[in-house]
Amino acid sequence: MRKKMVAGNWKMNMTPSGAVKLAEELKPMVKNDDVDVVFCVPAIDIVPVVNEVKDTNIKVGAENMFYEEKGAYTGELSPEMLVDAGVSYVIIGHSERRQYFHETDEIINKKMRKAIEHKLLPILCCGESLEQRESGVTLEFIKKQIVNAFKYIPPEKVINCIIAYEPIWAIGTGRVATAEQAQEVCSAIRTNIRDIYGAVVAERIRILYGGSVNAGNANHIFSMPDIDGGLVGGASLKPEFAKIVHYDK
Ligand code: G3P
Repeated sequence: MRKKMVAGNWKMNMTPSGAVKLAEELKPMVKNDDVDVVFCVPAIDIVPVVNEVKDTNIKVGAENMFYEEKGAYTGELSPEMLVDAGVSYVIIGHSERRQYFHETDEIINKKMRKAIEHKLLPILCCGESLEQRESGVTLEFIKKQIVNAFKYIPPEKVINCIIAYEPIWAIGTGRVATAEQAQEVCSAIRTNIRDIYGAVVAERIRILYGGSVNAGNANHIFSMPDIDGGLVGGASLKPEFAKIVHYDK
């Protein structure tokens, strides 16, 4: 039985003082022993949010990291810095980073390997564009993203990673994938994992859905057999996030 996860991706929102206020407001509302709750926050908010949620059920994630250990990489954050700051998860390969920062599958694979080496839990994002969906290449495209992201990573490490299926056309658009569409792709992802890493890894790895998740659609989407929760953008910045964490109540 896989434990559900609801992770917020705050993206480039919330100043440090705003982040602390939001975390303070949400923390009593998101207590749920049946769900792993994660706030993935902007780099500058990590330290204050880690302090704010200390001794709660909330874990903090980063939205990105670099794949080198240290050195002359102006503006980047290393996995060691994140771990030392109290970060548990890191989003890798979000479509916004692929699109605006030209992150390739190769870069994403390097980040995955480096995160795992430092015992950060990667939340690997994948997902097709509208054009790809309409031309019928969704499953093939996502399989390639998954295979490339996990290259050289052994099954005993893959098992603890999280995959987030985020169709690009559903991100921030209000146009949510139907639960059936999301299930179809998440089930295909699980099959891909089974083919490469075997049944045990496939049964244990958590696969989230992301893209216009809100309090009204979370229950239906999260009740699909291959969907283990959500990666939530816009709604993670509001009290509505707590309703998503309590999706089945
Ligand atoms: O990573 C979460 C995401 O991209 C979905 O954003 O605003 O559609 O929930 P949103």
